Amino acid sequence: MSETLERWHSRRAFILAVTGAAVGLGNIWRFPYMTGENGGSAFLLLYILFVVVLGLPMMMAEILIGRAGRRSPMQALAYLASEAGVSPHWRWVGLFGALTVFFILSFYSVVSGWSIEYLVDSVNGGFVDRTPAEIGSAFDTFLADPLRMTFNHTLFMLLTMSVVAAGVSNGLEKLNNVMMPLLYVILIVLGGYAVTTAGFGAAMAWLFTPNPAAIDLHVVLNAMGHAFFTLAVGACALMAYGAYMPDEQSLPRAVCAVALLDIAVALLSGIAIFSVVFTHGLDPTEGPGLMFVTLPIAFSELPGGQIWLGAFFLLLLVATWTSSINLAEPMVAMLIGAGWRRGRAALLIGALVWGVGLLSVLSFSTLADVHWIGEMNFFALVSTVPPDIFLPIGGLLIAIFAAWRMLPEAAASALGAPATGFRLWRGVVRYVSIPLTAVVLLSSLI
Ligand code: PFF
Ligand code: NA
Repeated sequence: MSETLERWHSRRAFILAVTGAAVGLGNIWRFPYMTGENGGSAFLLLYILFVVVLGLPMMMAEILIGRAGRRSPMQALAYLASEAGVSPHWRWVGLFGALTVFFILSFYSVVSGWSIEYLVDSVNGGFVDRTPAEIGSAFDTFLADPLRMTFNHTLFMLLTMSVVAAGVSNGLEKLNNVMMPLLYVILIVLGGYAVTTAGFGAAMAWLFTPNPAAIDLHVVLNAMGHAFFTLAVGACALMAYGAYMPDEQSLPRAVCAVALLDIAVALLSGIAIFSVVFTHGLDPTEGPGLMFVTLPIAFSELPGGQIWLGAFFLLLLVATWTSSINLAEPMVAMLIGAGWRRGRAALLIGALVWGVGLLSVLSFSTLADVHWIGEMNFFALVSTVPPDIFLPIGGLLIAIFAAWRMLPEAAASALGAPATGFRLWRGVVRYVSIPLTAVVLLSSLI
């Protein structure tokens, strides 16, 4: 076992860490705008389906590899492959995961920077007595300002990498313990407000009235990718956390708790955001700006709205912070596995991700019309292809390794479930999750 390996200090710490990784921009920012762009209830239904039949079993697969290997992802895969006498090339899945999180973190940090900007603005009373139209145009003005965006992106990368450099189990546990429960409180308040708005009924109908006609291959692929993204599955990021998991904990239980919470947070923010959209006649297909335009409007209508708004962005910032720490960890763990010191590894990774993030910053101004693939500028590219394509590919490989290649005894004991539970999990991964992911990926690539 490597000397740098840490251990979470309790079961609760592990669940909080995985929840921290899962709950983030995916729920509060990406879920609502993806739902808006993909036909509402059709997307929602598929996303929940994919979370249950792909996300949950694959999350277990990924974490159990880390737990059985007790090493950084690449080393864990190499170790388990040699233990089972299968090809050592499985370790490259770890490298692919590191590449995936690299690109995801580069845009994740930029968008998290938007929450920093909005936190500061709301504390300064910047949204007091503004009309919805003014709030919308203030967002556009902000996006067109690369310097302000770079400043926030830089700050966010510093926040992230300083925790990673200190070692996740120390830095993260303290942060998670306090902040995550507060975020739920504020989301519930927001949900309560949504119920009182005129658009609440329309929002509920739009989100929950079945609409199979809106389903096409594009919606299916987006919903699948989002299920991976929101659960943080497919990039070996949770594998890195699994390595620190205590021995006596049941993995299936922990994972189900996290997924439920993750869905709940997404639903609450979806309901709140679409209530505002339908109350004010805004456009549900607004795209990545959706949350930043709707929530300031919502909060400005609540008594003491500025305080709620500030608190909301503070907690959102913490949620994205704990996710970005998870995004950075597999890359840093990989360098540590290659003999680097944690602090230096964090510095190098942080600098590289920051640099690539600048391309996303500029995608809202100078580079807005520079198209990389099809109509996509850099931000559009990194915020769709790594989540929707790379994560499912990574998840697929991870699942094949866990359910078909590694020693069944090793997998069973790392799953921490009774024998029937293990067979059930393996059956679902082998005959449902793997084929389904492969079919969706292949049909959309063709
Ligand atoms: N699950 C995070 C969210 O919903 O915001 C994003 C994420 C974290 C994706 C870690 C992938 C990952 F490895
Ligand atoms: Na999430």
